[in-house]
Amino acid sequence: MLSGKRVLLIVGGGIAACKTPELARLIRKAGGHVRVILTKAGAEFVTPLTLASLTGEKVHDALFSLTDEIEMGHIELSRSADLVVVAPATADLMAKAAHGLANDLASTALLATDKPVLMAPAMNVRMWLNPATRRNIATLRDDGISFIGPDEGEMACGEYGPGRMAEPAAILATIEAHFVREVAPKPLAGKHVLITAGPTHEPIDPVRYIANRSSGKQGYALAEAARDSGARVTLVSGPVTLPAPAGIRTIRVETAREMDEAVEQALPADIAIFAAAVADWRVADESAEKRKKDGNAIPPLQLTENPDILARISRHGSKRPCLVVGFAAETGKVLEHAKAKFARKGCDLLVANDVSPASGVMGGDRNRVHLVSPEGVESLPEMGKGEVATALIARFAERLARPA
Ligand code: C5P
Repeated sequence: MLSGKRVLLIVGGGIAACKTPELARLIRKAGGHVRVILTKAGAEFVTPLTLASLTGEKVHDALFSLTDEIEMGHIELSRSADLVVVAPATADLMAKAAHGLANDLASTALLATDKPVLMAPAMNVRMWLNPATRRNIATLRDDGISFIGPDEGEMACGEYGPGRMAEPAAILATIEAHFVREVAPKPLAGKHVLITAGPTHEPIDPVRYIANRSSGKQGYALAEAARDSGARVTLVSGPVTLPAPAGIRTIRVETAREMDEAVEQALPADIAIFAAAVADWRVADESAEKRKKDGNAIPPLQLTENPDILARISRHGSKRPCLVVGFAAETGKVLEHAKAKFARKGCDLLVANDVSPASGVMGGDRNRVHLVSPEGVESLPEMGKGEVATALIARFAERLARPA
């Protein structure tokens, strides 16, 4: 699977470094070459000799090594690989990478590389959950770095929770998936895909809002599938708990009006996919102060209509994307309602799905969709949301390539 691929393995200082000889062995077994950078702290847990024996290569550990600089400069070391894998990615290494620090060979290589980086974090659960680590991870994701793990479980320090490094076999599978994606066809290369995802929150007063149960999972999966098809992707996301996907420009918004504004700013686009569950209404008389329970009367909520982003963009004069795709989340008579919506919204395609509680689609990981087009309806089998996204993006790309 990894025939001829070169991996630069950066080993940080944590107990999980003990698992890296096994990772190096698996990469070699799969046909890959491994060069190792071992941090000073990493060398406390695994010896350079072990890693050199398993990789058949000298292990690099010093930034200012005259012999190393003569044989291979540290800049070249960071670029000679096809993929950089940091395992274990310690809190310290991630903090340095997030802030661009370069005071040892590992952090210098991470700053100097022009290659994709995959990190397999491992640390104590409190360190993992610490706001500083959360911030650093968000920064690294925005910078296009991918992550695997950490797994949840018992830790060497005796605590329980997320923080265990992913198993070497799982890291290998992620490395292989990276190279498979790299050679996969890129039908959307050079195209800009704009996607909305998640719910919107419509404020009632400073502490309350109207929302819905959309998790954003299908929209985020579409964004990743579009990215993997070679597109430049802008994801306009309502409030969700999902991390910003690597390599995707993610704009976070709260309300329908903010989403509408962000979509407008992101134009022009070749394809626009409106997967967000936008609130149809907002509160007309949003209160600047928290509403009080004074007296017995229940306060009325005066609602007003939100902008219909899909309908507006479908009828956009100058900047209408070539392909506009709507979504229809229905709880009954799915196809009947979807066809009516397709006619009403003015989009080119509409993806319909059943979101009734029994379907488990809202918040779940699986989905069953029907693609409504001028030619009719194509019903796809139930699949994981990632697979649904891949199938849909392939169809959108094919349609975009059709002569007008
Ligand atoms: O009318 P309904 O909300 O069911 O339509 C669903 C489709 O319209 C979805 O694609 C959704 O993202 C989009 N929509 C929108 N702006 C709204 C309401 C819905 O873009 N205000």
